Amino acid sequence: MLKTTINNTNTLTKHFVILFRAPEVRFGTPIRELRLTALSDSPLSALSRVALQYFKNKMRLVKYNVIKAFENYLPTLNDFEIAHENVPTLGPGEFLVKAVYISVDPYMRSFAHRRKVPYEQFGFQVGKVVESQNSEYPENVNVVSHSGWREYTVLNGNPDDIFSLKPYQPQIGNLPLSLSLGALGMPGMTAYLGMVEICKPKKGEVVCVTSAAGAVGSIAGQIAKIKGATVIGFAGTDEKVQMLLEELNFDHAFNYKKEKDIMGTIRSTVEGIDCYFDNVGGELAMTILKCMNPEGRVAECGSISTYGKSLANKKPALPGSVKIQSFSFAQWDWSQQSAALQHIRHWIEKGAIKVKETVANGFEVLPDTFIAMLKGDNVGKSVVKV
Ligand SMILES: NC(=O)c1ccc[n+]([C@@H]2O[C@H](COP(=O)([O-])OP(=O)(O)OC[C@H]3O[C@@H](n4cnc5c(N)ncnc54)[C@H](OP(=O)(O)O)[C@@H]3O)[C@@H](O)[C@H]2O)c1
Repeated sequence: MLKTTINNTNTLTKHFVILFRAPEVRFGTPIRELRLTALSDSPLSALSRVALQYFKNKMRLVKYNVIKAFENYLPTLNDFEIAHENVPTLGPGEFLVKAVYISVDPYMRSFAHRRKVPYEQFGFQVGKVVESQNSEYPENVNVVSHSGWREYTVLNGNPDDIFSLKPYQPQIGNLPLSLSLGALGMPGMTAYLGMVEICKPKKGEVVCVTSAAGAVGSIAGQIAKIKGATVIGFAGTDEKVQMLLEELNFDHAFNYKKEKDIMGTIRSTVEGIDCYFDNVGGELAMTILKCMNPEGRVAECGSISTYGKSLANKKPALPGSVKIQSFSFAQWDWSQQSAALQHIRHWIEKGAIKVKETVANGFEVLPDTFIAMLKGDNVGKSVVKV
């Protein structure tokens, strides 16, 4: 039985969804959907092509592969390719997840050298369990996993191979599901653990955050405010600066692309910096480091300005008492990570933390959304609803 609908949520291309009841589909839910991109606007011709492909290939699932390594340049659309695979049959302990939101993150660029092309694009996603042979992950629960850019994934509950994170049911209460990839997911735990465990801001201290309007930075800065610090944020557009000041309660914010003398700006605004939460590395970070006060703490979270570049910046001479620490959220165990998320959830629920997101629509736009985030087009966490 075939039935077509045109999904208008996709902004780049129209695609057609076939709902069908197929005898060879062995999963419990009888109605499945097959989504394939159509090349023309004519529903009839598109339908016949899609139907033909279905009967040739049976049910095929969609994922994105990276086909060209983008280690030394900003990724392009040509570096990605949509691929299909047949539906596997669930074995004992396995469960099938249909993605709802898929994440795009800077480490997809900086970790690209860890895989040999072609490889499936790794990344976090949150989805619904649609079929299960695993009582820990029953049907209809939401699961966050590091399954990558895939519409459907068969999982068995094992930890992923990059962060060793076991698929988990997000504890988000009545908050939007997308937050489980941002403020209530990996970026949120990174912001909390880096700020609270490494920067350790005290009341009255000065905290500086770069990429302050992004997923990690926007939460890190607000946590520092909750801890009673004076917070300076740097971001790449005037709109982001305005948002930091007017909506996220930052004390000071600057557009690093427009400021000619960053050090002068900092020195004329505050008496040095006690904590620096560094999301960008490179020249901006080196300049901010020159403003560190004795006893200062630096949490080196990320270095997005240097991803794809081989030159490392030389650190300036600092007072010996300044402590610089690189970190990964993955260095803390699950009990500390989930405790961090509970703190953030509590602050969001009582209005002490405001969450910003940039949500794109449609599986096909994942590469575009990833590239846009790297260029700074996002505010808060960038995710794709699929
Ligand atoms: N250590 C960890 O465990 C961990 C975990 C998650 C993320 N991270 C790191 O944290 C940083 C932020 O990640 P995120 O997920 O929150 O991303 P994000 O800040 O939401 O998005 C990336 C942002 O980087 C900024 N950017 C791009 N090129 C830049 C440049 N040359 N100089 C300065 N800023 C630039 C852009 O904002 P502007 O408009 O402000 O330029 C862009 O919006 C990244 O370095 C990431 O690798 C580390």
